[in-house]
Amino acid sequence: MMALRRFLCGGLVAAAILLPHFAAGSDEEVCSAAGGGSGVSSCRPGARRMPLDNAASSQTVHAKADLISQEVEELTQIITLSQERIKLLEDLQGALNSGKNLPFSESHAKALREKVPLLSQLAAEADLAPVATAEDYLVSKTIIPSTEELKFLKFMPLRNLRSSSSSSSSSSSATSFPSALLVTVREDGGVRLFSPSGELVHSFSTGHEQPVTQVAVSPSQDEYFLATCDSAGVIRTHQVSVRSRRLSKNEKQTRRNSLDEKVSQHLGSMVNVTAQLHREMQVPVDEDGELREVTSLALSSQGGSKFVLAGDVSGKINVLTRNGTVRARIDTSAMPGVGVDSLFSSPSSVLFRSGAEWGYVDLEKLEVKHVECPAFHGRATYAVLDAQVSSRVLVADEVGTVWAFGVKSKRECKVDLRFASGTTKGPIELASVRGFAIGLEGLGVPGQPVSLVALNLSQTAKRQGSAASDAVPPPPANAVVWRRTRPSVRAWAVQRRTKEGDLLAFLSEDGREVEIMELLMHVYTAPPTDSFGNFKMPMIAVAIVLVLGYQYMKHKGKSSSSRSSGLGSGSGGKLDLAGEDFASLMRKKKLAGLRGAGGKP
Ligand SMILES: *[C@@H]1O[C@H](CO)[C@@H](O)[C@H](O)[C@H]1NC(C)=O
Ligand SMILES: *[C@@H]1O[C@H](CO)[C@@H](O)[C@H](O)[C@H]1NC(C)=O
Ligand SMILES: *[C@@H]1O[C@H](CO)[C@@H](O)[C@H](O)[C@H]1NC(C)=O
Repeated sequence: MMALRRFLCGGLVAAAILLPHFAAGSDEEVCSAAGGGSGVSSCRPGARRMPLDNAASSQTVHAKADLISQEVEELTQIITLSQERIKLLEDLQGALNSGKNLPFSESHAKALREKVPLLSQLAAEADLAPVATAEDYLVSKTIIPSTEELKFLKFMPLRNLRSSSSSSSSSSSATSFPSALLVTVREDGGVRLFSPSGELVHSFSTGHEQPVTQVAVSPSQDEYFLATCDSAGVIRTHQVSVRSRRLSKNEKQTRRNSLDEKVSQHLGSMVNVTAQLHREMQVPVDEDGELREVTSLALSSQGGSKFVLAGDVSGKINVLTRNGTVRARIDTSAMPGVGVDSLFSSPSSVLFRSGAEWGYVDLEKLEVKHVECPAFHGRATYAVLDAQVSSRVLVADEVGTVWAFGVKSKRECKVDLRFASGTTKGPIELASVRGFAIGLEGLGVPGQPVSLVALNLSQTAKRQGSAASDAVPPPPANAVVWRRTRPSVRAWAVQRRTKEGDLLAFLSEDGREVEIMELLMHVYTAPPTDSFGNFKMPMIAVAIVLVLGYQYMKHKGKSSSSRSSGLGSGSGGKLDLAGEDFASLMRKKKLAGLRGAGGKP
């Protein structure tokens, strides 16, 4: 029953939005067909035509008018058009009530008469509710208990061995070779490395004398580096090596005998992981000779230059080469007392956030580029780079609303997508997987459960390149794919993977348990011709109302000799849902929809 209601509602929303477009489209068709030389023009000149049509059809006369007059003219046309649409819909309503003169069956008429909840409310509620359950997408893989308290949690992406390994590796060993390692770090510097299935593959000590305060891993699969920073500003980098394990004769035999891959995974690790100290370096002191507390740490390897970046509490980013030489100290904020809250490193760029300011770290010029978004009025509290579109940045504001920005040349910014306020609540942290943003709400509130939420980013794809830089697109419908609460966590990590499900890891609040989960989201790619993206509703419901409305108009046009509406003079013949007429209607509405979205033709 609910499904039917939603179905009908969707259709009526469609009618409200689409029918007018359709009316306009039909009108234009009549005009252009007449102009194309079919003889008598059934198209009234002037008010009903768009200015662009005028310009196109009368190429010799280039009419000119000032901007305000043109805008007034356009608005007047919209009013006229709306009045006609209202009249038409009232006509239809009258006909429905009287039951006379209806060109379609009673069951169809019933669908239009049925009372449904107010669509404005319904749409708002539906937008905030998840469309699916987390269990459809999220699988718990393993829980790793720890006797000692863990503090940090990171994923280290590994090269895909299938593409880089020699021919000697069999397909079975390639599939069981991990695509990432989970890195856990204790405050005393103890490190443990796990495979995604939860198997301990290596443990070592980073050798800090002071408590570890920051941890970073290299973002690129080309190198496996781990950097740790302690409260004395000492940074130690370790190089991790991952090789296929040489098997003993016995092991080889056992493996060969076991055909089942799942079983062979339990026969011991396939990988030989080792770690070696690479360098120890010291974060430089400030001008006053004092050491500033390091508040964020990142490793970067862009092009040929490899750096360790340490953001501090005074808002500076210390740029150190991998051998420990201080290359630069970059100011990120003009505001005193604002520290570098986060550094987010991807293989192509590094993003910083200092208070509400954020932008890119340019490691060639050794400067930061602030990004200012004219349409964004909130305060950024979290910023990450999108996993799929390198120019896209996901930002959360202080109330927890998630925004997706398209950033051109690392400076110019437009809003690709803004989720409805209330969709997510702050404080929220974000991670990006292909096509979706994964948010964790309520992190850092002791004792409080957190809420993991998946937001659908698919609707940004269609908007790219349209809309002006200061325009905010309407919030997408059905944005929340799933939501799942879980006990309070201390830290979390997300690893996007290409051929397998993405990995999520959560460290329990007491630091003694790590849960690894696998996320299997399949991605919707927008067909290039689909401009219906703004409406998330059953297509068939759209079709019904549309076609019925059109039939009504046609019917009216035929029975009245005056043709005053100008809408009835289409081609003859019956319409049906699958017919050619319907297809052409759909095409026209797409055009109308695009024009509506773009503002101007
Ligand atoms: C792991 O690699 C190291 C360094 O190459 C080697 O010395 C060691 O024997 C290997 N261990 C195993 C079990 O393959
Ligand atoms: C460190 O590396 C830089 C280049 O990255 C080089 O110019 C410098 O000489 C190196 N210093 C040491 C002590 O190796
Ligand atoms: C994401 O949105 C797209 C477009 O609105 C939709 O087709 C797709 O089914 C959605 N994905 C999920 C998992 O809900």
